[in-house]
This record gives sequence, structure tokens and C-alpha cells, in this order.
Amino acid sequence: MKITAILLAAGQGTRMKSDLPKVLHPIAGKPMIWHSLETVKQVTTEKPVVVIGHGADAVAEFLGDSAETVIQEPQLGTGHAVMQAASLLKGKTDYVVVCYADMPLLRAETLQKLVQTQKQNQGPLSMLTVIADAPRGFGRILRGAQGTVNAIVEEYVATPEQLRIKELNVGGYCFSADWLWSALPRIPLSPKGEYYLTDTVELAVKDGLTVQAALMDDLEETIGVNTRVHLSEVEAVLRRRINREHMLNGVTLTDPASTYIEMGVKIGRDTVVMPNTYIYGKTEIGKANVIGPNTMIRDSKIGNRCKVLASVMEGALLDDDVDMGPFARLRKGAHLGPHVHMGNFGEVKDSYLGPGVKMGHFSYIGNAQIGAETNIGAGTITCNFDGEKKHPTEIGENVFIGSDTMLVAPIKLGEGARTGAGSVVTKDVASNTLVVGAPARAIKKLEPKTRQK
Ligand code: UD1
Ligand code: CA
Repeated sequence: MKITAILLAAGQGTRMKSDLPKVLHPIAGKPMIWHSLETVKQVTTEKPVVVIGHGADAVAEFLGDSAETVIQEPQLGTGHAVMQAASLLKGKTDYVVVCYADMPLLRAETLQKLVQTQKQNQGPLSMLTVIADAPRGFGRILRGAQGTVNAIVEEYVATPEQLRIKELNVGGYCFSADWLWSALPRIPLSPKGEYYLTDTVELAVKDGLTVQAALMDDLEETIGVNTRVHLSEVEAVLRRRINREHMLNGVTLTDPASTYIEMGVKIGRDTVVMPNTYIYGKTEIGKANVIGPNTMIRDSKIGNRCKVLASVMEGALLDDDVDMGPFARLRKGAHLGPHVHMGNFGEVKDSYLGPGVKMGHFSYIGNAQIGAETNIGAGTITCNFDGEKKHPTEIGENVFIGSDTMLVAPIKLGEGARTGAGSVVTKDVASNTLVVGAPARAIKKLEPKTRQK
């Protein structure tokens, strides 16, 4: 049984007052239409078809090959929009699920119920409805004596009596495909000069066929986005859903209301996420970590048992048992090995800090490789940029970098080396050698240290 989804996304979204097409506005880190696509994919068997119009290029570019696209130009209503997909799909599918791309909260379970309803329906069409006190401009459902649906009346043409009807058209439909193709050309022109998909209900009834309703119980799912106020409502609902899922998976969120986790983030059990924390993008966090408060993490990977306090990391990697912050910043390509301690006001970029490295205060480390158990004194700077190019710094194991050392790259420090406070190191330092001064000179050979634990 072939089931294909058609998502309608050609409308302008005027009330968003935006240069960005409505369906590309992000919600929980992904464009609105991404959410609808993910949902329909779970209940269909074929590649979804998206009807685009306003901002077509940008929407098509985002969709890539995740969906087929057809252009609706001009936009003459929801029925007209579906018609644009007819030639692509005729003879290729048994059922067609139609949804509007501005309803990102609709759940796959709900659409599944809709498809199930249609599979048991003798007639050609089933639709999602909901009962609500506030009609929010939705079409009203007219039921017949048998409890089947007779018509959908759009609000602006409804009689006062019809306006009191509390059952509303959500905007999710499942059609028998062959009947849909035969019905679309028969849709009459509306008083506003559009072809409404909702008029297929009356066409089915005229054909003597039944239209079934799948009544939903979660009103939240039916929030459609027309303005940025709706956008924030949808964002809040989605955030609650995401947070709830993490908590049910064994993650403690001290204050879910101030915890912002984007879609697709992975967090292991017994990790605690403290308030005012933002976890974005492709981030994976292991078990038993303490993240936050006041932390922002994007596109990063964290092992187990780490502490990340009041810090910012982007494109970074923490191995197990790292202790970071407060006020530490990891940029792209920063990798802290196991048991690294990174204290306040440090920045690391494109560098690896080996196991047990300590970098307590006020340092910048860029394009560097640092060996195990090395100590980076307060105020150490890798001077990695000469105005044109970035240069590497290599520091061996068990090195002691004195406070306020400038390491002018490219440069290498052998294992067990030491630099005096305030050194400006411009030449490579041999292992177990102490250098001091500006520019730094070797003044002493040191006893090799056995590696401290
Ligand atoms: C529609 C329904 C209404 C339902 C409501 C639920 C119709 C006629 N009415 O009304 O019964 O209660 O949704 O939210 O369907 N679109 C196109 N091409 C067009 C027109 C619209 O692709 O020519 C797309 C829009 O981008 C949008 C969706 O279809 O994603 C719905 O269109 P919209 O104008 O918002 O319909 P409503 O007036 O909300
Ligand atoms: Ca709408």
C-alpha cells in the first residue's frame, strides 16, 4: 500500500512580516517545515511532495532531495495547491496525506490515527478534527446523522449558528488517491476566488460517499503558525516535549523552564543539566556529567563525568572526567583529554590538551598540541598568528609553563621543559631545560621528572 504526503507551503505568510519564507523560520533549531517533513515521513511510504510558491528557491534549497517539490504559481487556494502535485503522483500512490507546513506540532501518532481511519473508511476521505472553545479562524465541521462529515464551512462564510460549532478542521487529510485526482478539478471557485481543498468533503458527499473524522484530543498539536507570537508558542511546546523526553530517558533538568535543548541533541543518563543552559546543534553528551548553570554548547561532544560550569563551547570535544569553567571558552577544534582541568577565562581553539593537563587561569591556546600532565601557568598565550598565517605550538609531557609566558609559534617545547614567569619564548626549547627572559634563553638543564600522577 503506497502512501504519499503532500505538504502545502506555497502561501506567503504575510503576517510573519519577514523576508524569510514562513516555513523556514527555525523552531527548536530546525526550520518549521523540517518538523512537518519528519512527521509525515513516519506515516508514509513514498518521498513527500512539497508545494512551494512564495520564497520557492530558498525552500527548495533547504529541502534538497529530502522531498519532491512542485511550484504553485499563482497561489489560488489549498485545493489548487494539491492539484499541482497531481501529474507527479497520478497512478503512483494509493493514499495521499495532505498537511499544511505551518503546523509543526502535529504528531506522527496523530497522523497514524488519520491514516488508520481512512483505511477503514469505505469513502474516499478522512480528516483530523478537534473540539475547542476558541475557534481561531478554523473551518467548522458539519456532521451528518450517521456521524460522518457533511461539510467544512470556512469561518468567513459561516452562519451565526455554524459559528457556534466547536468541532474544527485541523488541516490534516487522508485521501484515496484516485478519487482525489477526480475530485480536484470539480472544486468550485470560492467567493474569494480560490479553490479550497475543504470543498472536497461536499464533493464526496455528493458522490454518495462517506467522509470520516479522526477526532484529536490534544489541542496543542493543532497550533498553526501565522505570526511570530504563534512561533513562540510553538517553540515553547516543542521545548517542553524535548525536555520531557530527556527527563524520561534519565537526564535531570533542574529547571526545564530555563533549559534550551535543540532537536537531535543526545544526552546520557544521570547527567544533570542546570538552569539557564543552551544545548544546540549536533551535540552528544555522555553519562553523569554536570552541565551548567549558565552554559552554552553547540555542535560538541562530551564524554562522561565531566563538569562544565558557566562556559561556552562550540565544535569542541571533551574526553571523560574533564573539569571546565567557570568562564571557559572552547572554540572549533578544541579537544580536552581525560582529566583535563581548565579554569576561568581560558580560550582553546584547534588544539589538543593531553590527559591531566592543567590550565587554571587566563590563557589562550590556539593550534597547539600539549602533552600529558603539563601545567599551563596563568596568562600563557600561544602567539599563533603572525598577521598572515597560523603557526603550530608543540608542548611535550610534564612541561611547566610559567605565568605570563608568550609562546611565539611555530615553536616546540620538549618534555619536562620549564619557562620562567614572563618569558617570551621565540626558539624551540630542548627537553628538561629551563628558559627565562624576553627573548627567553636556556639557563639550566633540569633533572628529568618521572611522570606525576
Ligand atoms: C485552512 C483551512 C481551514 C482550517 C485551517 C487550519 C482551507 C480552505 N481552509 O485555512 O478549514 O481550519 O487551514 O489551519 O483549506 N497554501 C498553499 N497555496 C495556497 C494557499 C495556501 O500552499 O494557494 C498553504 C499555505 O502556505 C499554508 C496552508 O496551505 O501552509 C494553509 O493555508 P492558509 O491560507 O493558512 O489556510 P487557512 O485560512 O488557515
Ligand atoms: Ca493557516
